[in-house]
Amino acid sequence: MGTSAVNDRFLRACRRQPVDRVPVWFMRQAGRYDPEYRAIRQSYTLLDICREPELCARVTRMPVDQLGVDAAILFSDIMVPIGAMGMPFSLQENVGPVMERPLRSEEDVEGLRLFHPEEALPYVLETIRHLATTLPVPLIGFAGGPFTLASYMVEGGPSRDYARTKAMMLARPDLWHRLMDKLARAMAGYLRAQIQAGCAAVQIFDSWVGSLSVHTFRAHVKPHIQQLMAEIADLGAPIIYFGVQTGELLADFAEAGATVVGVDWRTPLDRARKRVGASVALQGNLDPVSLFAPPEALRREVETVLQLGCQSPGYIFNLGHGVKPTTDLAQLQRVVEWVHGFDPIPSVG
Ligand code: CP3
Repeated sequence: MGTSAVNDRFLRACRRQPVDRVPVWFMRQAGRYDPEYRAIRQSYTLLDICREPELCARVTRMPVDQLGVDAAILFSDIMVPIGAMGMPFSLQENVGPVMERPLRSEEDVEGLRLFHPEEALPYVLETIRHLATTLPVPLIGFAGGPFTLASYMVEGGPSRDYARTKAMMLARPDLWHRLMDKLARAMAGYLRAQIQAGCAAVQIFDSWVGSLSVHTFRAHVKPHIQQLMAEIADLGAPIIYFGVQTGELLADFAEAGATVVGVDWRTPLDRARKRVGASVALQGNLDPVSLFAPPEALRREVETVLQLGCQSPGYIFNLGHGVKPTTDLAQLQRVVEWVHGFDPIPSVG
């Protein structure tokens, strides 16, 4: 895997090994904040880009060249494999994923297909194979978490309170567990294929799982996350598990088998560290909105995050959620420069 020329500080931090500089990448680092991306989107839809390996590889690489980040993340969307499971959807601008027909019944759950990644999504794996041999940094593959995927499938689109999803979970636990089990198996197979094609690490985006109480997470989601991560653990690629507003769930994320726990900006990294223990790495957690502050104010925020993150080994700088579409590219460049200028040796006390 990889050549010696590949910058490996991201993978070293995932494994809690010493690093020369704090590694940094940004969730949603390829996207609308970048004029070059917006220009490409004039002629191609997001799903067009995903289906065109050469173009997809180019878009995946853009933030590596422009920002100097220490990892690339495959350009795709968490919904791409949901189409392969037999549920057509569209990605609507400023809305998000919208299902052609929401998943509501027993028959709908039974009808979901466990797809074969090389047959159903050959273009994804072709893009990864191309990138794995050309990128100067490790490539991160990803999949949606079972709860987050189920929320789009059951609601039919984005939702404020996930009422139908939680209703199914509580009223029909048997049906819910079958749905979670299918999604966990399908995503395990998909992530396994991505790692085998050349991804050095994977992230599970369970963005909306923080909407659950701790006890419902433990009863209705955690066993499936645990199963998902266990199914790919033998491959040895670090697994990052992330969701928004998950401060109360962080200890469970570590216990479920994550190598790296993603933290949003609401939970300070020193508090997150107390919750997860010493056996995992942490990733996060600059508030994406602080990128709209003047550079000097932004710099103070970045330093605070770095100081808290570097108190123990195994730390990757990131935002607490994705880059917002109106972010100034120069601000992201500054953040990378500041992170790389920071001395990562843990301070005593
Ligand atoms: O991080 C990266 O740079 C890789 C690419 C990536 C995309 N989506 C591309 C995309 C990743 C990792 C995702 C994951 C994703 N998709 C998540 C989990 C992460 C998160 O933000 O919580 C979710 C919930 C989705 C579903 C989804 N797709 C939403 C909510 C939207 C936004 C709708 C909008 O227009 O604001 C999308 C569309 C989408 N996926 C865009 C991008 C760059 C928007 C821009 C576009 O249409 O070109």
